Amino acid sequence: MKRAKELLVEAVEMLLAARDNTAQLDAEVLMMYLQGYGRAQLYARLDEPVDDEAAANFRELVARRAQGEPIAYITSHREFMALDFYVDERVLIPRPETELLLEYTIKKLRDKGWTGEEISMVDVGTGSGVIAVYLALRFPHAKVYATDISTEALEVARLNARRFEVNHRINFLQGNLLEPLPESVEIVVSNPPYTILAQVEPNVARYEPNVALDGGPKGLAIYRELLGQARTRLVRPGLISLEIGSEQANDVANLGRFFFPGCQIDVYKDYAGLDRVVILDIGEELSAN
Ligand SMILES: C[S@@+](CC[C@H](N)C(=O)[O-])C[C@H]1O[C@@H](n2cnc3c(N)ncnc32)[C@H](O)[C@@H]1O
Repeated sequence: MKRAKELLVEAVEMLLAARDNTAQLDAEVLMMYLQGYGRAQLYARLDEPVDDEAAANFRELVARRAQGEPIAYITSHREFMALDFYVDERVLIPRPETELLLEYTIKKLRDKGWTGEEISMVDVGTGSGVIAVYLALRFPHAKVYATDISTEALEVARLNARRFEVNHRINFLQGNLLEPLPESVEIVVSNPPYTILAQVEPNVARYEPNVALDGGPKGLAIYRELLGQARTRLVRPGLISLEIGSEQANDVANLGRFFFPGCQIDVYKDYAGLDRVVILDIGEELSAN
């Protein structure tokens, strides 16, 4: 039997050969996942022998990672806003940028004093459900809708809502953007597909659902349709909060001005200084026509 330490060295070598630039971290994460260890436990038990069956399972997971499969799919989980979400290949793996979308949205709501009882919101393109679940936890009295075109993604979102005991708080609806909503809402939050598929990193396009990535020929198709639909499905005053690609702030702001002339537009950056979030503040006076 090999010791954990030796298996890790083997794994790192294999991952480095496969050009995994987080090889050490990935090998450790896979070992912790397989053995059910925390980090401290892993380091404390590095000299212990690992039985042959566990070693074979470990090598299999490492081989999957070496092929390019994301760690989050291999381990079926991803941390988001310090919560542990279930994910699998039916949904996009939640990204850190989307935590910023939530942080800026919540700050804006707080600044406007819109954190009260009656507020209604929708997470459009909910995927794994991270945005809707977080909003339901953060605003215990809000009415929360979540839509997705993908019935498979909605299965994962429902599972996460149950995991965090907010399944009774979120109304999950299958369909195109805002179309399935039974009523207008005050807040639209979305991390829509916004990439040009041909430009996406090959392993992302290979493993993650293309319907979660494909924003049309210029990456803007879903923003255009969503903002068009919002004209008749947003309560005034209302907010539309969107995650964007780093090059899309001007185009999305222009679409916002086209569909909601006179709205206030704020663009927020990520920690790398790249544009990441656009929030449209739609005043009372802006009519639905
Ligand atoms: C970029 S992913 C975001 C997932 C999740 N909200 C997150 O931030 O991790 C976009 C999601 O939008 C969904 N989607 C794509 N086109 C849609 C449409 N026309 N109507 C509703 N949802 C759509 C995809 O299935 C996918 O789950």
